[in-house]
Amino acid sequence: MRPKRVDLTFNTAEGRWARFGPYYAMFPVPFAEQVITNLSRGGETVIDPFCGRGTAPFIAMIYGRNAIGCDINPVAWIYSQTKISPHPCATEVIERIREIKETVSAPETEPKNEFQQLAFCQQVLGFINASRRELDWRTSELDRTVAAFLLQYLHDKRGAGLSNQLRHSRALAPKYSIRWWRNNGHDIPPEIEPLSFLSSRVAWRYAKGVPKPRVPKTPTIALGKAAESLPRTDKPANLVFTSPPYSNVTNYRSDNWLRLWALGVGPDLPDWESEQKFTNADEYRRMLHESIAATKKCAVDNAIWYIRSDVRPRTKDTVTSVMAQLLPQHRAYELSAPYRRQTQTALYGDHEPKPGEVDLLYMPPNRRRREFAKRFSRLTVSV
Ligand SMILES: C[S@@+](CC[C@H](N)C(=O)[O-])C[C@H]1O[C@@H](n2cnc3c(N)ncnc32)[C@H](O)[C@@H]1O
Repeated sequence: MRPKRVDLTFNTAEGRWARFGPYYAMFPVPFAEQVITNLSRGGETVIDPFCGRGTAPFIAMIYGRNAIGCDINPVAWIYSQTKISPHPCATEVIERIREIKETVSAPETEPKNEFQQLAFCQQVLGFINASRRELDWRTSELDRTVAAFLLQYLHDKRGAGLSNQLRHSRALAPKYSIRWWRNNGHDIPPEIEPLSFLSSRVAWRYAKGVPKPRVPKTPTIALGKAAESLPRTDKPANLVFTSPPYSNVTNYRSDNWLRLWALGVGPDLPDWESEQKFTNADEYRRMLHESIAATKKCAVDNAIWYIRSDVRPRTKDTVTSVMAQLLPQHRAYELSAPYRRQTQTALYGDHEPKPGEVDLLYMPPNRRRREFAKRFSRLTVSV
């Protein structure tokens, strides 16, 4: 029997929190619903060792599956843990924002560089600097929730976020942004009062309540390397559903440099010389091997594995070869998207992999593919 769909429109708490957290390379929500409801049952466990903004564990939770998640990036961790268990009271979140605002000192409102001067008005800059100093987001649920709202609205189109015109899902290089603002007549940042700006957005997000976990235990997301940080579980996973970092594309720190700075864990300006990508093929393979081996320990032997990967050989070949080594009994299938320009239908209508992506499905030997997986074709891999 097909499961009843959860209402994910803005009329429900689940709908208002599902898309929380702008993040590069995030799973579309309907895609996660499709995979989880077709490949697992209520009461089973779903694990995503590279969970990004947490769509997989969130959808698992609201569809009555236990969930385990992990990510190395604090921005991803704050989004995913907060959408799963936000602080329960909106008034207290707003009160904490007010408290932080009251601690802002005059020096904290002064820009330290040209980027800060053009990106944020002085009130906003003061609030961010006070948040960097005050928020104990690693251990306090309330502070983690405040940090999540700061990250959600830190940068966006002019008027939609706390910043001058910037992209929402990723932060670009400071020099590029400065040039763009100067060339486009945006060399004064918008004047925004952070308490009223954030309070109205907190009130909207909480207006329908907070998401209800339809499982006995609210999922926890681990912050750290999957190879070391995945929690021990008495309910091993039946479905592994994930998208590993892409080799030679980004390590997700550069895209998030501005948000990492706002959390107090990144420098004032990004260090573009430092390691921004998984450039070394051997190290990438080792990281993947160790992470997948650790994930396997948290899953039942006959778990289904569903992996969305970059289609380029550096990532895809490494993923498929590590999988063949670690799960030799599973049968491998793939569903690729042809390289083509995205159409409106491809963007908004269907949830197939997009150009540049491939979906890999690993079925345990004793299980037959259900209707959902029949579109996949058999994959042959050399280890
Ligand atoms: C393709 S993204 C996943 C996006 C996710 N599916 C979503 O919906 O947001 C890959 C993620 O792997 C994380 N990552 C990279 N190396 C990691 C590691 N060793 N352990 C855990 N997470 C890691 C990155 O921070 C990034 O968030």
